[in-house]
Amino acid sequence: MSICDPTAGRTSETLDEIQRAAQTQFSKQSHRYSQGHILENVEDVQAAIETIDLVPDSRVLDVATGAGHTGLHLASLGHNVTLADISALMLERAAEAAARRNLNVQTRLHTAEEFPYADTSFDLVMCRVAAHHFSSPENFICETTRVLKPAGHFLLIDGSVADDQLEAEAWLHAVEKYRDPSHHRFLTPHAWSQLCAASGLKVKQASLKPFKQPDLNWYFETAATTQENRERVLALVANAPPSARELFCLGTEDRKIVWWWQRLTLIAVK
Ligand SMILES: C[S@@+](CC[C@H](N)C(=O)[O-])C[C@H]1O[C@@H](n2cnc3c(N)ncnc32)[C@H](O)[C@@H]1O
Repeated sequence: MSICDPTAGRTSETLDEIQRAAQTQFSKQSHRYSQGHILENVEDVQAAIETIDLVPDSRVLDVATGAGHTGLHLASLGHNVTLADISALMLERAAEAAARRNLNVQTRLHTAEEFPYADTSFDLVMCRVAAHHFSSPENFICETTRVLKPAGHFLLIDGSVADDQLEAEAWLHAVEKYRDPSHHRFLTPHAWSQLCAASGLKVKQASLKPFKQPDLNWYFETAATTQENRERVLALVANAPPSARELFCLGTEDRKIVWWWQRLTLIAVK
């Protein structure tokens, strides 16, 4: 049975509280996500795209594009790319980056939970390091399925924690929530796979790979974490349970706190 509402595709005028928090946070911090941000390195996207058969000039939608690093990589490969985000200021950063790189893309302001596109519009929908902010991953997946062409692909890259690591996941959730209160929740690989299956997508790959977070302080600055919350995160780090300490390889290098996020790459086909 499908979990999706057949009346989907109409755009709500109002944002819910979680969407509003993300819009405010990322608009305030948009200047931190352009050049020099670690998301500028798109090796993870390159590796995933190599496994997807895309004909030249495919129609691609990059949801929650931020400063555009992921979508612009696809544009540089010669595809017809739409960059979408809930924050107009982020879309400005993405448009500036496109101009710098001489790439032609469309930008659209909308949420990940409702898309303003006709059914079967895209060959590829992708979303990288953003879905943990979404108020409804269910609606996001339903909308993705709706706008994909038959045999179109979905690529999701996001933080995640293996299904059996409940304590470590609870610890990471608390850290992320203090660091950036617009964080909503991480979903496990199984939870994402179930959502895909329930909306009619066939999951081809769902794998976790450690990804180094090189400096906790840099993350505080990126999110403009309040002093009070920085102290709370530092206390969580100091008292991390062994499960979290081990899974995230919590440690110190050159007096910087480092750890390894578990990054999920999920590829599904309609
Ligand atoms: C970390 S940035 C994305 C990084 C980008 N995908 C990349 O690969 O460089 C997260 C983005 O998600 C957007 N976002 C958060 N919640 C959203 C929602 N519900 N709908 C659309 N965009 C959202 C934010 O505005 C922000 O630009």
